[in-house]
Amino acid sequence: MSTPLNIAVVVGSIRKDSFNRRFAEALARLAPEGVQFNFLRIDDLPHYDQDQDGDNAPEVRRLKAEVEAADGVLFVTPEYNRSYSSVLKNAIDHASRPYGHSKWKGKPAAIVTLSPGPLSGSMAAQHLRNVLAVLDMPTLNQPEMYVQWKDGLVDEQGKVGPASQAFAQNFVDAFVAWVHRFKR
Ligand code: FNR
Repeated sequence: MSTPLNIAVVVGSIRKDSFNRRFAEALARLAPEGVQFNFLRIDDLPHYDQDQDGDNAPEVRRLKAEVEAADGVLFVTPEYNRSYSSVLKNAIDHASRPYGHSKWKGKPAAIVTLSPGPLSGSMAAQHLRNVLAVLDMPTLNQPEMYVQWKDGLVDEQGKVGPASQAFAQNFVDAFVAWVHRFKR
């Protein structure tokens, strides 16, 4: 049997009942056979401090190892004040350093933003897209995935609700195909 495709999922909200996490978990259930979604922990990372570049905390070493092992990265984040969240930026900065040793480089990525508001985090997505460009992460352009949280988006079984299922499946399939294109 071939090794499964390993997709690292980084959720930009660390609150317990995060809508982003619930939606990310529902997306993971749409993964085709042979694709694993591995949720990375970011809530226990220290604040990024360049003085620690040569002496990373175990949590930072864990994050770096998980990113390194991933074939692709799915970012699922809320919008905070028209950008993405600071906890996500902290995680990104950690695995980008020391200079020249970024773990993100070359990893195919996709962005999902989700908010209860009507703009659905689209500005957060644009900010994150800029950052992924400088990290040299080829990022899926289409389909875009800006999601407004509404009752029924994720059902009681944790699945994407019927109204959004085709849209969500199309996105997951496009992202998996995107990651396959870059797999060595
Ligand atoms: C928000 N929220 C928000 N929503 C939005 O659509 N655009 C925005 O700019 C902001 N700004 C913002 C700032 C801060 C500090 C907070 C705490 C919240 C609302 C946000 O989308 C909402 O709280 C989501 O539920 C957060 O996602 P999780 O935690 O449910 O995944």
